[in-house]
Amino acid sequence: MQNLIDLRSDTVTRPTPGMRAAMAAAEVGDDVYGDDPTVNRLQAVVAERFGYPSALFFPTGTQSNLAALMTHCGRGDEFLVGQDAHIHTSEQGGAAVLGGMMPQPLQHAPGGEIPIERIAHAIKPDDVHYVRTRLLALENTLGGRVLPADYLRAATDFAHGRGLRAHLDGARLFNAIVKLNVDEPAAAAGFDSVSLCLSKGLGAPAGTVLLGEDSFIGQARRWRKALGGGMRQAGILAAAGLYALEHHVQRLAEDHDNAQRLAAGLRAIGLEVEQPHTNMVFVDIPENHVAALSAHLAERGVLACITPHTRLVTHLDAPRSKIEAALQAFRAYPDWSSESSGSW
Ligand SMILES: Cc1ncc(COP(=O)(O)O)c(C=O)c1O
Repeated sequence: MQNLIDLRSDTVTRPTPGMRAAMAAAEVGDDVYGDDPTVNRLQAVVAERFGYPSALFFPTGTQSNLAALMTHCGRGDEFLVGQDAHIHTSEQGGAAVLGGMMPQPLQHAPGGEIPIERIAHAIKPDDVHYVRTRLLALENTLGGRVLPADYLRAATDFAHGRGLRAHLDGARLFNAIVKLNVDEPAAAAGFDSVSLCLSKGLGAPAGTVLLGEDSFIGQARRWRKALGGGMRQAGILAAAGLYALEHHVQRLAEDHDNAQRLAAGLRAIGLEVEQPHTNMVFVDIPENHVAALSAHLAERGVLACITPHTRLVTHLDAPRSKIEAALQAFRAYPDWSSESSGSW
């Protein structure tokens, strides 16, 4: 496993020796009673760093997003969300299934933003026929793209002006922070709640922190328990998160550099590659090569979800040498120009 080059996601990292040592040494208690000192420290550190009154530790980003949505919206309320946002595409519709909310998906602009006029158009009038629109949910980074700070400010100001609340799925917000070299409060400004994952890119084995006002976090804590997320001696995981925050944030720049290198190398083969913003590279693979390329890469120890629009993700466990080896495997694919994958 250690020698595989796994470019499927930045969630595949394993805790480093230093992180494991911090986990082993963690002081713990029962967090449902609020007794875990390491969880409490993580929550205090993240709230302080981002300039929010309160924070709550969750096992996963999915649960943190769902608890946030359930806290902002009641049964029969609507939230506006990007068509490609993880909340809409990849969380099993939990907000509708478990929270009784109605998602209103909206098309993104090419940069990932949802144009303000589209948001304005989607807000329902106060009419007995319509659901009540309560929340705008954005995601940053979105598919590796960093949303511009002035857009985020304008969108959250607009939402608030129309009586909506604003939630940010910041699963990879640290990538945006490092890319733009902005401070943490600035990156999270304008939102009523922000969900930050520690297990994507930062290398922790699990854990997400939700930020918000005291009363919001109090209610989110109730939903977390109802959703089965009340963990006990969770300080072992929180210690990994604290270690990640201390040691693995600034190094995200290496992942961004590696993504640029990977993109350039794939382009040199003649493939169509989007210019990466952060740690995700999107490359078009001719449909007839998908299965054969997948098998070819797997034989060379490169794990990648090959599709016609392939996403490759750089991370802590894919240093420069592995990126070079992955490129070598792509270059060794026998015949990019063949019409059929069976012909080589
Ligand atoms: C943008 C985004 N939000 C939320 C999540 C959910 O996180 P988790 O897998 O911890 O539930 C993911 C997972 O990859 C994600 O990419």
